[in-house]
Amino acid sequence: IRVVVLYGGRSGEHEVSLKSAASVLRHLDRARFEVIPVSIDKTGRWQWNDLAAIDPAQPSLPILLDAPEMRLARGTDGRGVLMPVSAGAVGPIEIDVVFPVMHGPLCEDGTVQGLLELAEVAYVGSGVLASAISMDKDVAKRLAEFAGVPVAPYRVLTRKAFAADRPASLARAIEGLSLPVFVKPCNMGSSVGIHKVKTLDALGPALDDAFRYDLKVLVEQGIDAREIEVAVLEGETLFASVASELNPNAQHEFYSYEAKYLDPDGARVDLPARLDAAQMARVRALAVQVFAALECSGLARVDFFLDRQTGEFCFNEINTLPGFTSISMYPKMMEASGVPYRELLTRLVHLALD
Ligand code: DAL
Ligand code: MG
Repeated sequence: IRVVVLYGGRSGEHEVSLKSAASVLRHLDRARFEVIPVSIDKTGRWQWNDLAAIDPAQPSLPILLDAPEMRLARGTDGRGVLMPVSAGAVGPIEIDVVFPVMHGPLCEDGTVQGLLELAEVAYVGSGVLASAISMDKDVAKRLAEFAGVPVAPYRVLTRKAFAADRPASLARAIEGLSLPVFVKPCNMGSSVGIHKVKTLDALGPALDDAFRYDLKVLVEQGIDAREIEVAVLEGETLFASVASELNPNAQHEFYSYEAKYLDPDGARVDLPARLDAAQMARVRALAVQVFAALECSGLARVDFFLDRQTGEFCFNEINTLPGFTSISMYPKMMEASGVPYRELLTRLVHLALD
């Protein structure tokens, strides 16, 4: 079975993907799968990378400037074909399945999934619809809430309205909320563009920055809460892992990009999370409920807040292509739940082909 590991991508999480893909390449079962690393650079160029030239120990996959450029075409019998854009070192390559190990807009949001549908190639993870709605934090919350999953209060602003009437938008941004609030681009991951806002003066600049990334921005009520995550894997029934808890180091205000990927001591992880049996069962059930409500397939990591005051879980967000880096929680939670990394990848590839 030929598996394309698609990595890089045109989002703000490009660098995270390079790390996720390095880790996936290390763990894919080479006895079962012929692995073909295909990168997408920041301009959107697809390139075939020679697996033999990639050092398996490196923490981030490289994107080689002179690697042959490829495009994806429809093949026969459900196989796709990677076609070289110009004649050269590599010929057309038939492929069976694509594993998009990429995060964020134009990677995880249904766009690449749509391209793969058009090419009639099997791929790991959610389809177009679930990918798109899960990437949009506003729509995902609305659907989760509709399914009966609690969600913390938040407001939505559009760039257009913000530009047209800044004072009115600033007022509407915190209507009914109290400081602190979190300002987040609606379609982003890895905490890119997220700000914790503690004063009214800081709200405008935070929104300006968040609107650099997106046309729609969320202003969420900051709550005194614990951050709890659950990994969900499709099988005969949906399987929810044991939950984990992230405790960002006190010098980080929240689980920011820096705390996640740049500071080796950015957060302490409790796996399993220190929850009582009822809380653990509750959050696992909620994760499955969200996965089903958003019509996800394959895998997702579902992130919750556990409100310290009310003791209730609120859905925060879902990641249909969660991080797979060596420190990422999705594979760790699965491992802690009895599914080792290699077996997890094998299952995901087979799910895609089913
Ligand atoms: N968006 C990052 C990769 C994550 O959720 O793990
Ligand atoms: Mg995320």
